[in-house]
Amino acid sequence: MSSNLESVKDMLVFLGKSLFSILEALFFQLIPKPKKNVAGEIVLITGAGSGLGRLLALQFARLGSVLVLWDVNKEANEETLQVAREAGATRVYAYTCDCSQREEVYRVADQVKKEVGDVSILINNAGIVTGKKFLDCPDDLMEKSLDVNFKAHLWTYKAFLPAMIANNHGHLVCISSSAGLVGVNGLADYCATKFAALGFAESMFVETFAEKQAGIKTTIVCPFFIKTGMFEGCTTKCPTLLPILDPEYAVRKIIEAILQEKLYLYMPKFLYFIMFLKSFLPVETGMLIADYLGIFHVMDGFTGQKKKA
Ligand SMILES: NC(=O)c1ccc[n+]([C@@H]2O[C@H](COP(=O)([O-])OP(=O)(O)OC[C@H]3O[C@@H](n4cnc5c(N)ncnc54)[C@H](O)[C@@H]3O)[C@@H](O)[C@H]2O)c1
Repeated sequence: MSSNLESVKDMLVFLGKSLFSILEALFFQLIPKPKKNVAGEIVLITGAGSGLGRLLALQFARLGSVLVLWDVNKEANEETLQVAREAGATRVYAYTCDCSQREEVYRVADQVKKEVGDVSILINNAGIVTGKKFLDCPDDLMEKSLDVNFKAHLWTYKAFLPAMIANNHGHLVCISSSAGLVGVNGLADYCATKFAALGFAESMFVETFAEKQAGIKTTIVCPFFIKTGMFEGCTTKCPTLLPILDPEYAVRKIIEAILQEKLYLYMPKFLYFIMFLKSFLPVETGMLIADYLGIFHVMDGFTGQKKKA
């Protein structure tokens, strides 16, 4: 009898808390969540030498954060350091680090801990794309993509998560992609890395949640194409539903999601609808929609990031 009462009580508590969480989410749809203060936080951005990484650095500089910039491209990273200083950052540190090399990640991470302190916001942003059809893609390029776009996330978490747990304070940001939500032809290896990055970040969110490490937040970002040059030559057939995003807009939304501690950010919003459709529509209908949206041809004109002279 008492065990029956216990299970009824458990169910009522579960239903009450679930209802509250839904109402809370609806409330924050109407009234934006307050933004957290990141002044003085140590923010590490991988791939800070260009594109989103550089723009994120600029924004965090304006918010008074301490910046730790990582990039394999020393010169580009130094440029970001310079622009971050001009934007008002007083403490900015640039480290040359090839994130595809596990030992290098651990070595530079140790250096950061000694020279700067415990990283409290980790942004795994560095990324590359081969842009080739699977059978045309050399094995070493595919391995490199996996190393940079996914495995680097494992090594940076290993390096910086323990201090976050010890302080019960931290934020893990994964820059995945819409290609981490749906498979795309001509992007098989890239999609695999972005699905992996998303799966890892989501699992680690669940792990920190289950361990009641409430001070550790996660944000997973899945954007469609952004005009940074990485997907140069790619097109969209439906710019109203799937526009190629402006980098400043994308970074504004990413910063907003981090400051409001949102778990998922898909850009543009139409991606939420695509995910909803994907969950129940017949595959054939899904392929018709993909065809209608021109998805099968988005990579046709791909030329990719231009090499700097
Ligand atoms: N641009 C887009 O359309 C788009 C769309 C969705 C997701 N993303 C993702 O956003 C992130 C940033 O992309 P972006 O558009 O700013 O590209 P970008 O090419 O402008 O910047 C990527 C940066 O990563 C650095 N990098 C590359 N390999 C590295 C390595 N081994 N170690 C350290 N740094 C390395 C590069 O030097 C460069 O500075 C990537 O993860 C990308 O996959 C981009």
